[in-house]
Amino acid sequence: MLVEKGEGYGIITLNRPKALNALNLQVLTDVTAAAAQLDADPEVSAIIITGADRAFAAGADIKEMQSLDFATAYKADWFAGWTRLSEVRVPIIAAVNGFALGGGCELAMMCDILVASTKAKFGQPEINLGVLPGMGGSQRLTRAIGKAKAMDLCLTGRMIGAEEAERSGLVARVVEHEQLLDEAKEIAATIASKSQIASAMVKEAIDVAFETTLEQGLRYERRLFHASLATNDQSEGMAAFVEKREPGFTHT
Ligand code: CAA
Repeated sequence: MLVEKGEGYGIITLNRPKALNALNLQVLTDVTAAAAQLDADPEVSAIIITGADRAFAAGADIKEMQSLDFATAYKADWFAGWTRLSEVRVPIIAAVNGFALGGGCELAMMCDILVASTKAKFGQPEINLGVLPGMGGSQRLTRAIGKAKAMDLCLTGRMIGAEEAERSGLVARVVEHEQLLDEAKEIAATIASKSQIASAMVKEAIDVAFETTLEQGLRYERRLFHASLATNDQSEGMAAFVEKREPGFTHT
């Protein structure tokens, strides 16, 4: 795994190209630790996750799981460690450069904005291995693209390309392969130019939409809106609008 920092954002690159960036325990530990560290860095307002070479990630590491038995997996609550990524407060952008299969598709769906290159391929092929998704595929995919498509992908194991993924609502944008990282960096830089508190509140509010009723969600959103009025960034953002100038957010 590689970690770099740009202006206001961090980039995590999965880097096991010979195994198509398959997600083993080491990758889980490294990625979640790097994301937590970037999240705690006051200079970081967004994180990009991408993959080296021709895969984003081709899934959980099948070779690592081949001899895994029920008792070991159950006692270790296998895959539960990935929930640490969902605890990250800054927005995470998945820049999907190639295969995003099984755990790779599930990792992308743990991110907040999915941008795909024209070479991206998504799928939940666990059915071909005699198992089922274990890092959220049956849940997040269903919420993202609906029951019909989620059943189709999880039951047949077929892959879909970037265009179908965008049409289905799985990804936000599709760009030419060569443009992918620039596009992701531009999104990250745009987010970094806003108030960190406001963007964390946006992320929190949208995530709540998946957990609760509409009535409770609307109340939650209103309360966060009310809270945003207590920030210096709200004073600055609204003053800048009225004074016809760019805001200078201080993330306070
Ligand atoms: N785990 C471990 N190794 C993997 C892997 C994975 N998920 N995916 C690919 N690799 C390895 C291959 O074994 C191969 O290694 P060797 O050179 O040592 O043989 C190398 O990466 C290159 O792969 P291929 O030769 O297969 O490349 P290809 O271009 O012919 O095929 C592919 C590409 C279609 C993505 C194919 O590799 C593939 O089908 N991979 C497995 C995809 C999969 O089933 N993912 C789900 C895993 S289970 C899971 O993720 C559970 C969960 O919900 C969390």
